This record gives sequence, structure tokens and C-alpha cells, in this order.
Amino acid sequence: MTILVTGGAGYIGSHTCVELLEKGYEVVVVDNLSNSSKESLNRVVKITGKKLKFYNADVRNSAAMEKIFNDNEIEWVIHFAGLKAVGESCAMPVEYYDNNLNGTLTLLNVMKKHGCKKIVFSSSATVYGDPEVLPLTEDCKTGGTTNPYGTSKYFQEIMLSDVHKADGEWTVVLLRYFNPVGAHESGLIGEDPKGIPNNLTPYIAKVAIGELAEVGVFGNDYNTHDGTGVRDYIHVVDLAKGHVAAIEKIENSGVFVYNLGTGVGYSVLDVIHAFDKACGRELPYSIKPRRAGDIAACYANANKAKQELGWEAKLNLDDMCASLWNWQSKNPNGYNK
Ligand code: NAD
Ligand code: UFG
Repeated sequence: MTILVTGGAGYIGSHTCVELLEKGYEVVVVDNLSNSSKESLNRVVKITGKKLKFYNADVRNSAAMEKIFNDNEIEWVIHFAGLKAVGESCAMPVEYYDNNLNGTLTLLNVMKKHGCKKIVFSSSATVYGDPEVLPLTEDCKTGGTTNPYGTSKYFQEIMLSDVHKADGEWTVVLLRYFNPVGAHESGLIGEDPKGIPNNLTPYIAKVAIGELAEVGVFGNDYNTHDGTGVRDYIHVVDLAKGHVAAIEKIENSGVFVYNLGTGVGYSVLDVIHAFDKACGRELPYSIKPRRAGDIAACYANANKAKQELGWEAKLNLDDMCASLWNWQSKNPNGYNK
């Protein structure tokens, strides 16, 4: 079976390609490399010893997408391609809505034309906005997003659900990721953010290799166990396996929504201390003001994915930090060796 992975050269996409290839699927990747490097796919091939097909193209390019569907018998699409930086999306809403919404619309048009009606979409816990209750279940209210990135995810969920409403043959799987972190155990692939990282764990990793001076902890006056923000960090390899589970378990048409998280919340200080253990020294940090738009706590109830997909996260915070440290220390400059 052939699976088209949009955004497959990216962080989560490359890890998912590994899991798909290891399960014997044929993998076709389309990526415009706007936030990634072709080297990640070379490494995927090195890890698995298997080949994949790569198209360097933008998902908004109908002609290029047509060619991909003409060249290959695609049965499922896993749609990762999109822009994902919350802060940047506030400064560049037009670019974010263009890339994320037009990308999905172009993809859906071509899929429709070719009778390919199975899609897994990378959604985010951000669609829940500021949670009314914790842990979050899939039927919690969505919307109330506070930035164009989150709003684009919310809109895309609605667009995809409408496609199924209009044509009941579609299978739409909305996977709401919590906070993906860590790297493949080989240390060959991992997250390679451009510039100074916005997210916590890549920032900590850069402090650990000495590229940045100290971790800034954004607020210690939240209503959490130590006052710092709490999130549901999930190992990227577990997350990647969640996509394989969805493709293997879901046989019927419909709209299927799953939280992919561990169900456990860790604070910023918990993560820093876990990373201290992984890298073998106490990392410097200091308390800074709260970051605009942040919420106190966000973690999943992950039971639905366990019951219906037979999937659950297996790796813990120490595994996440150890694998990130392994990747970062072996690749201090990411894919730019
Ligand atoms: P990433 O930036 O590493 O991967 C996205 C990939 O898509 C990149 O390789 C990029 O070059 C490509 N891309 C972007 N726009 C494209 C376009 N128009 N055409 C073709 N390729 C394009 O990000 P990631 O962390 O791997 O995230 C993958 C998906 O998961 C995204 O949709 C993201 O919004 C979603 N997600 C990520 C997180 C997270 O914290 N990493 C959390 C929730 C959801
Ligand atoms: N934090 C710091 N210092 C930093 C970076 C982050 O203290 O340098 C804190 C934040 O305040 C927050 C926690 O670490 O409490 C996690 O922050 P991240 O930026 O790593 O992640 P977010 O939870 O803010 O957002 C991430 C993705 C979003 C996605 C969301 C939910 O960036 O795209 O998870 O899935 F929508």
C-alpha cells in the first residue's frame, strides 16, 4: 500500500516515514523543504535500509500534486505539511492562512479527482484553546484559538469534516498532538529548528550544548504544582506510531478524532531537571515573565486512542530527554553537518 506523506521531510514527518517503511508501506513524500532539509530523508533511508520516493514541491501547486497522484497509486495521505510557529503566525497571518488552508484545499481537490478518500491530518491540542477541564477528552469544546496558527488548525478540522459530510465515503482522521519532543533512538533524525528555538525542549538542548546561555522559564506563578507551565510531552516516535495505528485500525469511513498524548503533565522545571539527568549536568535557568498567549496547563485524556486504535505512548520523559540529547550531541548543527 502506498502512502503519500506531505511534509515528510519535517520533524514528525521523517519519524513517521521510518515507522511506515519499517511496517512495509511504500512511502511517497512531498515537501517544499521550507522548514526542513532533504538530508532528513537520506537519514530515514539509512535507518530503515528502504527506499522512498521524494517530490520537492509545494502542496499548493495543483499541477505538481496532480503529477504525484498520476505517478503513484496513493491509498492514504498523511498530511503534515504546514507552517507551525505560533509567534510567527501572529506576525504573518496571511502567509499562515495561505500555506495551511490553501495547502489543504489543493490537496483535497486533487485527492477528490483521483478518488483517494483517506486522510490523516496533523491537528493540535491548540484547537481546544484554553482548556475548561483537564484532562482534555476529544469531545471537549474546540475553537477559541488565540493565534492564526491555531485557528488554521481549527478551520482545517472543520473543512475536513465537511468533506466527509458531503461524501460519506471519506475517512478523515484528525490527530490532535500534544507536545511532541525527543528524537529517533539512532540519533540520525530529530528536530532541527531554524534560528533560536521557540519551543522548550529544543531550547534546553541548545543550552546543554553550550550554544545558548541559559533556559528562560516563562512564569512561575501559574496554578500548577511548581508554578511553571504544565504540558503533555509525547515522544515523537510514539507519536509516529500513532499514525501507523490509525491507518491499520481504521477500516470504515467517517470522521475519527484522537488525542495523541501520554495523559501525564510535566512542568517546565520537571523537564529541565529530566534533561539535567540526560546530559549529566545541571543546566542554568532563570525565571522570566509569562509568555503572552500561554496557558497554565494542558494534558490529554488519551484513552480513546488506546481503546479504539490499540495505541498508547510507551516512552517516558527520561526517554524523551535522553533521545533528544543523543540527537543534539551527535548533530550540534542539525542537518547542516
Ligand atoms: P516541520 O516544520 O518540521 O514539518 C512540516 C514540513 O512541511 C516541513 O518539512 C516543511 O518544509 C513542509 N511544508 C510546509 N509548508 C509546505 C507546503 N506548502 N508544501 C510542501 N511542504 C510544506 O513541523 P512538524 O513539527 O514536523 O509538524 C508537522 C505537522 O504537525 C504540522 O502540520 C504541525 O502544525 C503539526 N503539529 C506540530 C506540533 C509540534 O509541536 N511539532 C504540534 C501539533 C501539531
Ligand atoms: N517555555 C519556557 N521557556 C521556553 C520555551 C517554552 O518556559 O524557552 C514554556 C512555555 O511557557 C510552556 C512550555 O514551556 O509552558 C511549553 O512551551 P512550548 O513552546 O514548547 O510548547 P507550547 O505548549 O506552547 O506549544 C506547542 C506547539 C504548538 C502546539 C501546542 C499544543 O508549539 O504548535 O504545543 O500541541 F499547538
